[in-house]
Amino acid sequence: MEIARDVFGDSYRLAEQYVDILANRGVDWGLIGPREVDRLWPRHVLNSLAIEPMIGDGRTVVDVGSGAGLPGIPLAIKRPDLSVTLLEPLLRRANFLTEVVAELGLADRVTVMRGRAEEHHERYDVVTARAVAALPKLLGWCLPLLAPRGELLALKGESAEQELVEAQKLLRRRRLGGEVVKVPTPGTDETTWVVRIR
Ligand SMILES: C[S@@+](CC[C@H](N)C(=O)[O-])C[C@H]1O[C@@H](n2cnc3c(N)ncnc32)[C@H](O)[C@@H]1O
Repeated sequence: MEIARDVFGDSYRLAEQYVDILANRGVDWGLIGPREVDRLWPRHVLNSLAIEPMIGDGRTVVDVGSGAGLPGIPLAIKRPDLSVTLLEPLLRRANFLTEVVAELGLADRVTVMRGRAEEHHERYDVVTARAVAALPKLLGWCLPLLAPRGELLALKGESAEQELVEAQKLLRRRRLGGEVVKVPTPGTDETTWVVRIR
């Protein structure tokens, strides 16, 4: 995809290699639906990068429920300054991630951990989550993973505002602020809704 060249710049070849893996092994392993193959770039990879400008230099990031590596792998490809942990409970998916991270040459700064967020006890500057759970449940899993002054960036659909309303009570109790940020999906006309909790 031509526009992805501009978005990824020097990292484009690596991003292309990842998309190729998703389109082939990702489908064979049942992690990507066959119908998604034609829209891997805009709907999955570029969508994952919508949160990239919100992440400061050199941060530690945990991608909760990473699945086939979204958004964690596109972020790690675009941003060599980040240390990224891909957290995924399902064995098959964790094995896929380990294989892909090694193949892309990212293993020095991307770690794969098999486990559930609520049983994980490390802390990170940034927690990301895409299509994992509704916000109230996600907050219960993810807030304990935040380092002091850390933030949660959840990639959501149009339901983001409503989910934030439903999570207000919990956020007030913890004295946390939340907002929905509408950002353009890089290189496309689409909008991505990001719930940002600090
Ligand atoms: C719909 S998939 C989304 C995968 C990926 N983030 C994406 O956007 O394509 C949801 C993922 O969350 C994982 N998951 C479910 N419960 C979880 C939990 N308690 N902690 C961490 N991950 C979880 C699932 O195993 C699954 O891989």
